[in-house]
Amino acid sequence: MHKVSMLGTGLIGLFYTMTIHGNRSRDKVEVVYSRSDERGSKFAKDWDIPRYTTDLRKAIEDPDTDTVVVGLPNNLHEEACVMAAQAGKNVLCTKPLARTATEAKRILDAVEKAGVFHGYLEDLVYTPKTLKALNSVANGALGKVLWARSRETHPGPHSSWFWDKEMSGGGAIIDLGCHCVEIARVFIGKDIRPVEVMCWADTQVHPIDAEDHAIGLVRYANGAIGQFEVSWTFRGGMDLRDEITGTEGTIWLNHWLRTGIEMFTAVGEGGYVAEKAEGNTGWLFPVGDEVGGLGYTEMFNDMFNSIDRGGKPKEDFYDGYVVNAILDAAYKSAASKQWEPVQLEVWRGKDDVESEKFMTDYDADHFLIKEEKMPDGRLKVMLKEKVGGKIIQKVIEAG
Ligand SMILES: NC(=O)c1ccc[n+]([C@@H]2O[C@H](COP(=O)([O-])OP(=O)(O)OC[C@H]3O[C@@H](n4cnc5c(N)ncnc54)[C@H](O)[C@@H]3O)[C@@H](O)[C@H]2O)c1
Repeated sequence: MHKVSMLGTGLIGLFYTMTIHGNRSRDKVEVVYSRSDERGSKFAKDWDIPRYTTDLRKAIEDPDTDTVVVGLPNNLHEEACVMAAQAGKNVLCTKPLARTATEAKRILDAVEKAGVFHGYLEDLVYTPKTLKALNSVANGALGKVLWARSRETHPGPHSSWFWDKEMSGGGAIIDLGCHCVEIARVFIGKDIRPVEVMCWADTQVHPIDAEDHAIGLVRYANGAIGQFEVSWTFRGGMDLRDEITGTEGTIWLNHWLRTGIEMFTAVGEGGYVAEKAEGNTGWLFPVGDEVGGLGYTEMFNDMFNSIDRGGKPKEDFYDGYVVNAILDAAYKSAASKQWEPVQLEVWRGKDDVESEKFMTDYDADHFLIKEEKMPDGRLKVMLKEKVGGKIIQKVIEAG
């Protein structure tokens, strides 16, 4: 059983507590930190949490807890993680790990120096759909992954600090791009080095200093491309989609706006529909198990099981650091309008990977480019001569 100091009573503190206290869990939030006495006491009462405090250090150093969960604004992650590491606690931190790779590296160094367990709470790589898709990719169902495209867009976040560049570290790129970048990494392979990033970003709708809209490409050492599409300008709720394309197959994942329940109501749903839902009448896409659907359940299972067996979770602070380094390169590229290298002070993956090409032999003299069955029943086969490189076409009549 793990006893948790929960830092934050906002949206993520609520989802995390709901998850940890769900499924008749043995793990329990023992103390919760909130800035406000009123919010802390209500949260503690609602979730049957024995203690609450407005003193961050007191929550972290609580003698009865072994694990600190950081669910605070991005500018407070470093202070909280370092304090938790120094207190010798297991440290679990929400995304993004930090505002920049430099800050993330200091957090990574602190937990490694203290020798404490660290888990990066990137829930979207733990959704049931993602886990199933990852399993298919590991089984070879897609061949070699060439392109992992991940999209998270919604009309914008729910608290003022997100919109303040100093506190958040940026706009849609840091807030949503961190998810998309890590989703692409898990499909492409976390041991494959991210090499460089090209990114477009703009501020189109909201009166803020940070970007509210961006698209980026991350090139990996094996030639694969991770693509992120993020926006705080999207209308229609929260669009969470991934597309994985390999040499032998494709997977499309739609996590939120088509979850299997599609409901029309003329009079209104009568309550909360789903995270970032924009309305509560007309066609709605409610979510049956929100914490499960977003990956929180499997994520905390992995974290606590890994602590119990003394192992590493699927996502740790090193992953958070790599994500921040990729996002730093995205910001540089958005400004320079050039491909920018991903600067990693520490790389723990493979170093001998080169960009791969995939050619299929047709016969001793030809490579196969493609074959296609035509509407009239003929099979067209397009080939390239191995010597000379000429491209030819064969037509095989229907039998
Ligand atoms: N899917 C996810 O993993 C996910 C989803 C949402 C948020 N997050 C992350 O969780 C963290 C918190 O986000 P949130 O959505 O819970 O935010 P929120 O605004 O809903 O809650 C923030 C919490 O931090 C506390 N806080 C302490 N000091 C603060 C300060 N100076 N200013 C503002 N709040 C302060 C607030 O009282 C509140 O309890 C962020 O790092 C965010 O990126 C992750």
